Amino acid sequence: MARIVAGIGSSHVPAIGAALDNGKTEEPYWKRIFSGFEKSQAWMRETKPDVAIIVYNDHASAFSVEMIPTFALGCAAEFPPADEGWGPRPVPVVQGHPALASHIAQSVILDEFDLTICNKMEVDHGMTVPMNLLFGKVEKHGHWPCPVIPLAVNVVMYPPPTGHRCYMLGRAIRKAVESYPDDLKVVIFGTGGLSHQISGPRAGLINSKWDKNFLDNLSSNPQKLVKIPHLDYMREAGAEGIEMVMWLIMRGALDDKVDEVYRFYTVPASNTAVGHIILANRERGSGRKSAAKVAARSKRSPARLKRAAARTKVERIRG
Ligand SMILES: [Fe+2]
Repeated sequence: MARIVAGIGSSHVPAIGAALDNGKTEEPYWKRIFSGFEKSQAWMRETKPDVAIIVYNDHASAFSVEMIPTFALGCAAEFPPADEGWGPRPVPVVQGHPALASHIAQSVILDEFDLTICNKMEVDHGMTVPMNLLFGKVEKHGHWPCPVIPLAVNVVMYPPPTGHRCYMLGRAIRKAVESYPDDLKVVIFGTGGLSHQISGPRAGLINSKWDKNFLDNLSSNPQKLVKIPHLDYMREAGAEGIEMVMWLIMRGALDDKVDEVYRFYTVPASNTAVGHIILANRERGSGRKSAAKVAARSKRSPARLKRAAARTKVERIRG
């Protein structure tokens, strides 16, 4: 059967994509951010997922104010890049996985989550920036390392879905994946955030205390997050901080108890807090290497390997 081995949370700041596309990754301002994802890219290379489900939000690239689905699942064979502002990023067309996506659509809809099915959809920086941060830079005519199933969530126009609804959708997605007959290793991304506000009197708001508390609870106590009302996100994390509900879809697709593989947090990127976390499901007698073990093995120092053998390695880099 297919199974979700890990969840990845990542901000999707558009300026990070622009820095990568314009060769600025070695500039001190941007190096501080890109270096925080180097271990994650090593982890991803060793984990080698067969498919990635990426929860993100569209920024008026595929949809507009004329039509905004709450949850839109990409079931197409491919998804061309598009973007507002700077235009399409020079990244490859994203290959989909129509068979698994259609299976997820059927399972989740019959579980009473009313997804919109997208058989044609463009994808913007909300999805391609986290892909670059985790998969590394890929030339426009190259290939992303695995197929992707996009799940676009409306967090741009009121009312967005609740955190609880997102978490429960994650649960339904996990059930769907685990009922797919092929032996696929799947990872799921939650993207967006963390705290930021783009416009208005509070433009530039960043709340690191809130962000770090969110990451702590996401890792070890997600039930504390699922009932947070929209107003609390907006008050504490800024108007665009509501994007963080998308991380709860990722978290809902994981075990109740997970191993935190890696964490990175820094401020600012553009005017946004950058947060990143990798959470691995624990091995459950499948005979396959768990994502946490792969992560532990990817750290080369003997001292680290020894500690990893004793218990799951939790790494935190605090910016
Ligand atoms: Fe966004």
